[in-house]
Amino acid sequence: MKKVLSGIQPSGKLTLGNYIGAMKNFVDLQHEYACNFMVVDLHAITVPQEPAALREQSEMVAALYVAAGIDPNKANIFMQSHVPQHAQLGWLLTTLVSMGELERMTQFKDKSEGKESVGAGLFVYPALMVADILLYNADLVPVGEDQKQHLELTRDIAGRFNSRFGEYFTIPDPYIPEVGARIMSLDDASKKMSKSNPNAGSLIALLDAPDVIRKKISRATTDSGSEVKYDPANKPEVSNLITIYSQCTGISIPEVEARYEGLMYGPFKKDLAEAVVGLLEPMQQRYRDVRESGELRSILSQGAERASETAEKTLKEVQRLMGFLEK
Ligand code: TYM
Repeated sequence: MKKVLSGIQPSGKLTLGNYIGAMKNFVDLQHEYACNFMVVDLHAITVPQEPAALREQSEMVAALYVAAGIDPNKANIFMQSHVPQHAQLGWLLTTLVSMGELERMTQFKDKSEGKESVGAGLFVYPALMVADILLYNADLVPVGEDQKQHLELTRDIAGRFNSRFGEYFTIPDPYIPEVGARIMSLDDASKKMSKSNPNAGSLIALLDAPDVIRKKISRATTDSGSEVKYDPANKPEVSNLITIYSQCTGISIPEVEARYEGLMYGPFKKDLAEAVVGLLEPMQQRYRDVRESGELRSILSQGAERASETAEKTLKEVQRLMGFLEK
């Protein structure tokens, strides 16, 4: 069975962008692949995190995985830090990545821009992500558009390892959805919707209350025109809202356009808000059930236990190939 791996950082409240770009595909892929879905807490600490907030956000992401429809009996759901082989392989692979490669990572440039002091962890972060993926010899990695460059690096490092130490790693393919791989901010369609944006109006959090969602969508920036038309170059704001509509309802983009032909933005936005609420409200109910049931601990420990079996085998083999002595 082919293998899938992906992860989400517990570094804020998950957004509709995380759901559409990544989680939605996790749910679909679990039926056909052997899946590992992590909460990447080791990645989250590459920027400062309050310990209590990190704990809460970690549980939140894990519970949202389940609430979104990932079945813990089908896919492994686990904390990255519960499988120490991630950090171990991360170190080994850091030695195969060049400074130049890391300097070219646009995510690093974006996250470090204007900061007086930047942690070294933020710089080497992509090497840990390479390790996450190669540890399971994943065939497919479902991610949004912003992770594409990290996936290219992963392919390069896997190839580099294989040519230096012997063919071992699978070269993984990214799985980036054609539509919805880059959901944009509600207040500025030139920026992606991001959980770290301090302006709450820029994003829809998966746990936003229905009325908050309605308000945010009614205030979302549009343009001075009136046509509900998908045209990302000339109508980026409206195109983003159409994408969200289509992704939340399963109605294709041309059908959405047809449905609102001759109508103004008002009715479109109203229906869009109901479509988002219709998707998120049941997810929020399941989320509360998961948190209250206390089942998260056993889901995470079972997930980590299963993942560790593969992770340990890979790490041992990599150490052997690289020339480390056996214990
Ligand atoms: P993170 O936590 O920033 O985002 C999690 C996933 O959500 C996608 N995403 C989006 N997709 C569409 N529109 C958006 N506005 C949007 N914002 C976020 C991201 O592309 C991502 O797929 N480095 C990764 C986490 C990671 C990982 C891995 C992923 C660590 N190890 C191994 C895959 C495999 C990150 O920071 O994602």
